[in-house]
Amino acid sequence: MINTTPLRTLAATELKRNLDDIQDNIATPIFMRYGRHVFFKFNDGAKGRAWMQRLFKRVNAREQEHGTRFTINIGFTFEGLKTLGLSQRSLDSFPEAFRVGMRGRAAAIGDVGPNAPEHWEGGLGGPEIHAMGWIRTDSDDGREAATRIIQDEMDAVGGIEIRFIQDTMALAHANGIGSEGEHFGFADPISQPPIEGMDTPCHPGDGVLEADGTWRAVKPGEFLLGYEDEAGAHGTCVPEPFELRVNGTFLVFRKLYQNVAGFRRYLATAATSLYGSADTSEQQRVAAKMMGRWPSGCPLDLSPEKDDPAIAADPDRRNNFSYEGDDQGLRCPLGAHLRRSNPRSTPLKRATAVRRHRLLRRGVEYGPHLPDGELENDGVDRGLVALFIQADIERQFEFVQHEWMQGGDFIGLDPNEQDPIVAGNGDGSQMSVPGSKRPFLFDLPAFVHVKGGEYLFVPGLQALQGLIEQKF
Ligand code: HEM
Repeated sequence: MINTTPLRTLAATELKRNLDDIQDNIATPIFMRYGRHVFFKFNDGAKGRAWMQRLFKRVNAREQEHGTRFTINIGFTFEGLKTLGLSQRSLDSFPEAFRVGMRGRAAAIGDVGPNAPEHWEGGLGGPEIHAMGWIRTDSDDGREAATRIIQDEMDAVGGIEIRFIQDTMALAHANGIGSEGEHFGFADPISQPPIEGMDTPCHPGDGVLEADGTWRAVKPGEFLLGYEDEAGAHGTCVPEPFELRVNGTFLVFRKLYQNVAGFRRYLATAATSLYGSADTSEQQRVAAKMMGRWPSGCPLDLSPEKDDPAIAADPDRRNNFSYEGDDQGLRCPLGAHLRRSNPRSTPLKRATAVRRHRLLRRGVEYGPHLPDGELENDGVDRGLVALFIQADIERQFEFVQHEWMQGGDFIGLDPNEQDPIVAGNGDGSQMSVPGSKRPFLFDLPAFVHVKGGEYLFVPGLQALQGLIEQKF
């Protein structure tokens, strides 16, 4: 049968008047230091909808309630939408990656061996996780109070269970650039794609590089459903109908454990091998080669020999680079985490429009810092709750994770060379570091382990109300 539904797409100019319909922390980041991710199971669709009706007024509220300022957002797994009673027609219209879920896509995105779903916590990725509530607040007490408010409403309705809770605590950007940094010691985040139609400034290096050397914001349809995107046409036209997708997005949640002591020990060994000394400055040089930025956030492409905190502190300079003229990776190794995750103007082996593989990153650290100088792990769970926002999970998160993080061929390296920070490396692994005394790092351990993940649909507020009322 021919689909006669007219395709509807909003232009970037229409974004601002829609901002109140978009859930917090999607188009506009919320800088509140304490976070909690609560994963729910609905035993009954009608009760799930009744609970959401009560929760609805709190989404995007950012209000003071019982002495607590908090914001809560909500996203659903495919199983969750099914349980809530979304129509078969709408369910079928969701993209394959979302329908299958992160657990089902594990092999395709390299979640194998110790990262495989059978090791994941709390049933994450499984059929009993239906929704994730995403709390942001400004104190530990606030987090508890917000949870109590939600729990009271769950108890009043019944039939909803909490299956897993993951707290977060922003370390890297809580005190600004050059503060404690994320667990491996780097400032983060710095590079975020600005969205066309928002007031967010587009600093040089932040968006899409035009032929005339200027940078512009990215079309909203790369991150929000229902808007024009970088393909110039209708954006991502699923799920159906338009009213369900407009102002919604897909959120990738990943709990990534970081082996901080292992990372520090490796830096000492590698600094000796590459630069003949394990001095702190040489260890920082190795770390910078692996990351693509110095700990302050200063990019290697702009300052390859030494950290320059003045560049890191300047929003017009810290992201203003494109790797042009560094095709060999002498300034920034081709395989560095930063260069892989956004190669900018680096010539790639297959024609790839880099602007179609961008991610909004809203991740936050979990667990306390390992004390400085400590070279043994203390058994405390710490890492990154990585949150990636995009219109198309397969083209954006999965592509970056699989094509750019887990091989070298795309950028002219050995096909087996993987991301030195986040990939499942091990004995026999290598990273090219051109220009060093020894041009390779060898036997990089896997410093990051996947402890769980979910693909979630985060609807706009009117669509959320429509889901509650079973309009779709
Ligand atoms: C524990 C794991 C990870 C750590 C510690 C980490 C750390 C960092 C740091 C320190 C930066 C530089 C700051 C910035 O430019 O904003 C960065 C940038 C970035 N990372 Fe990661 N990251 C991790 C996992 C991932 C994963 C799994 C992906 C994607 C699949 C990813 C995608 C990106 C992107 C897109 C950028 C920005 C690149 C740019 O625009 O130049 N990261 N990361």
